[in-house]
Amino acid sequence: MEKDFLWGSATASYQCEGAWNEDDKALSNWDVYLHENKLENGDVASDHYHRYKEDIKQLAEGGQNAYRFSLSWPRILKDREGTVNEKGIAFYRDLIKTCLEHGVRPFVTIFHWDLPEYWQEVGGWLNADVCYGFERYCEVCFQAFGDLVEDWVTINEPKYFTSSGYLIGNYPPGHQNPEEFIKAAYNVMYASALGVRAFRKGGYKGQIGIVHSFAPVNGIDDTLKTKIAMRYADNYANNWVLDTAAKGEIPFDLLCVLSQKYDLSFIKEEHLKIIKENTVDFLGLNYYSHILVKPYTEGETSLTVNNTGKGGKNTVIIKGWFEQIFDLPGAVYNEWGTQIYPKGLEKGLLEAYEKYHLPIYITENGIGVREDVSVEQVEDDYRISFMNDHIAAIFNAMDKGVEVKGYFAWASFDLYSWKNGMAKRYGLVAVDDDLTRRPKKSYGWYKKMIESDGKLIERKTWD
Ligand code: NOJ
Repeated sequence: MEKDFLWGSATASYQCEGAWNEDDKALSNWDVYLHENKLENGDVASDHYHRYKEDIKQLAEGGQNAYRFSLSWPRILKDREGTVNEKGIAFYRDLIKTCLEHGVRPFVTIFHWDLPEYWQEVGGWLNADVCYGFERYCEVCFQAFGDLVEDWVTINEPKYFTSSGYLIGNYPPGHQNPEEFIKAAYNVMYASALGVRAFRKGGYKGQIGIVHSFAPVNGIDDTLKTKIAMRYADNYANNWVLDTAAKGEIPFDLLCVLSQKYDLSFIKEEHLKIIKENTVDFLGLNYYSHILVKPYTEGETSLTVNNTGKGGKNTVIIKGWFEQIFDLPGAVYNEWGTQIYPKGLEKGLLEAYEKYHLPIYITENGIGVREDVSVEQVEDDYRISFMNDHIAAIFNAMDKGVEVKGYFAWASFDLYSWKNGMAKRYGLVAVDDDLTRRPKKSYGWYKKMIESDGKLIERKTWD
């Protein structure tokens, strides 16, 4: 492996910090949405806010040389005017310094879904002012941490949180409105470009990218109808994020189709210029599975997500575009209905690199499982095999010339998994109900694998 290859793991502020109302933190949209709906929340989560020193030490002792985490916007800025909360800055400076003291590279996501409620109140991502609020927030982050951090991510998974919040309706603000989804999605991509512009303008050291919920698209057969369905699916799931961030172009065929049905007058020439001029330095790809599609057959657009892991249903049917297949005979699925498909990662990496020619980090990869964490050690051989096979897929892609520069397991330790709560565990380290940490078997395996410089990986080929 290259000497500077990053072997790390990842978390996100709302999912692990807790301390939702401490040290002058403002409310986030998740605080309000979960409290109002009386749902399981991240008030305490993994209590990382109070235990980050212990967590980072453990990560370093696990042989990892990088930690991907996010900054909480409502912890850093108190209001829409952008008043800085010095306590928030002090917290993150100390967290970052702790990383550096342990030889761990801080890989910083600026926004991982916890929007300040003061922005949600005025329309959230439907209000273009939020984009400028984000720009100001980025400037504050670069100024406050730019002397210590060299790897920046503007936004985590634009597709996932905007479709969940504005189309599927299972994330705040809980809307189901295609027009709103399109507008929110556009504003998020514009905001990301403004963040990149602020980084370039300030002349900060290092690099800046975006993180995408990468879902490479496969088709049920080779027919033209299926290929058209695949293009629709790719535009829906991937291209509007990756093309826009990496090439500065919103897919033109997507705009043509959308303009037939929706008013796109919120798209302004001056925004498009900023998007074009401010593309990213690298792509962060979160890989959990691929998307298998067939041509659209009938019925209304229908989107549902299994958030229970107990027989809930996943559906993606976009009227006139495509249908996703979730029940392929012989395929292996986790309890939440996500197919385990490492082969998709190899193929996806080859496609993404061919299209964008940018360095790639796998910024998340992991498996969510219901686990009994009261035991001495969780024997998560399924996680070890999942990670082995996905890293093998990455190595195959690297052998074929793809420039992959790092791998982050999701997650560093158990944390609050959004609407799946604490039931769906992803950590390399178990976090018990009383918040004690106990490394799982996978933590030790990952350490050995890193120490072996990847040689411990059992190599695989598919087909
Ligand atoms: C992607 C998201 O970035 C993260 O927040 C989430 O918990 C994981 N996927 C697992 O679903």
